[in-house]
Amino acid sequence: MTTYLDHAATTPPRPAARAALQRWLDVANPSSTHLAGQAARVAVEQARDQVADALGCSPHEVVFTAGATEADNLAIKGIMWAACEQHRAARPHLVTTAVEHPAVLDPARWLAERGEVTLSIVPPAADGRVDPEAVLAAVRADTVLVSVMAANNELGSVNDVATIAAALAEREVAVHTDAVQAVLTREVDMSDWGIDALALSAHKLGGPAGVGVAVLRRGLPVVPLLHGGGQDRGVRSGTLAAGLDAACGVVLEQTVAERPTLSLRLRDLTDRLAAGLLELDGVRRNGPADPAARLVTHLHVSIDGIEADALAVALDRAGLAASSGSACGSGAAGGSHVLTAIGAHGTPLRLSLGWPSTDEDVDRALEVLGEVIPRLRRGPLRPATARVAG
Ligand SMILES: Cc1ncc(COP(=O)(O)O)c(C=O)c1O
Repeated sequence: MTTYLDHAATTPPRPAARAALQRWLDVANPSSTHLAGQAARVAVEQARDQVADALGCSPHEVVFTAGATEADNLAIKGIMWAACEQHRAARPHLVTTAVEHPAVLDPARWLAERGEVTLSIVPPAADGRVDPEAVLAAVRADTVLVSVMAANNELGSVNDVATIAAALAEREVAVHTDAVQAVLTREVDMSDWGIDALALSAHKLGGPAGVGVAVLRRGLPVVPLLHGGGQDRGVRSGTLAAGLDAACGVVLEQTVAERPTLSLRLRDLTDRLAAGLLELDGVRRNGPADPAARLVTHLHVSIDGIEADALAVALDRAGLAASSGSACGSGAAGGSHVLTAIGAHGTPLRLSLGWPSTDEDVDRALEVLGEVIPRLRRGPLRPATARVAG
């Protein structure tokens, strides 16, 4: 049996999300005018309401996407292209941070490399957080968009997006946040925070992969990525996926309802995991020292004196699924731009908890790591034990 502590990469679907997906999988096109189509439309609109209630926005501002990658791309490219179209500047300016997910950093760099925008990338502090003052200092007269993630996927470091948005409230600068990792255990309220755009992905919460949300404040000019049937206010063409959207709505509603108890439970589990792991020699925690400034789901450490590949193989063999760095992208270990940005050394290991995590998961992880780390440090595996299964 595998002990799964990689919930930041993806987490198993919740039963209610499975049921909603199943219920609305086999239905008509929600844009059709017949009764079957209208029933599917009701399911999609109910999901939109659930998402809006969960995020403190209007249902009209909710755009269903194929995930956070699309939602981030839509915000970054769509808002910057709209500014180009409106001739707001010859090459409008975009501000983001060095610790963003590639779903933000890559479109930002792509636009800059093509000469369509100018780009400022704000470095993080040593604990992975981004200082709001540093972000605001990068804003110029021609800045159109500031994109700062709510919480980092590798370190779990939390950013003060509301303070950044409040400081920009009187200026014509849109604020976008990638809230993918934060939403499970932290309140995210777009109205309270005063932000204009947000991205999330259902499969990080217990929904299916392949559906996410872009929230785009009403009146915010955005050029679509996809052109076609004009669904979702013309911002995102393509037949609405009633089953995926319904599952996304249900899982967000459940997330908000269970958040207070779930976050306390996960905090206790992560604290116990951290206490046990940090007792081992040569293991250091990365990310904020202040518990209030980090997600209760994430424990990121650097381990001295062992090879990353050897650790990955040994954990796999012991049945512990965790991530060396972040496996959100290609699954490749190491080479993390986030760890480079904070100057971390040693072999990285991220253990991340989710809604199904239990005490037994923590016990088993501590048992495995307590055996594997000292053993790898003692020396190379003997050939007989070094063979990778399969
Ligand atoms: C912070 C963050 N943003 C964006 C994404 C992309 O989400 P998806 O792969 O569901 O599109 C991920 C995870 O992969 C993430 O952790």
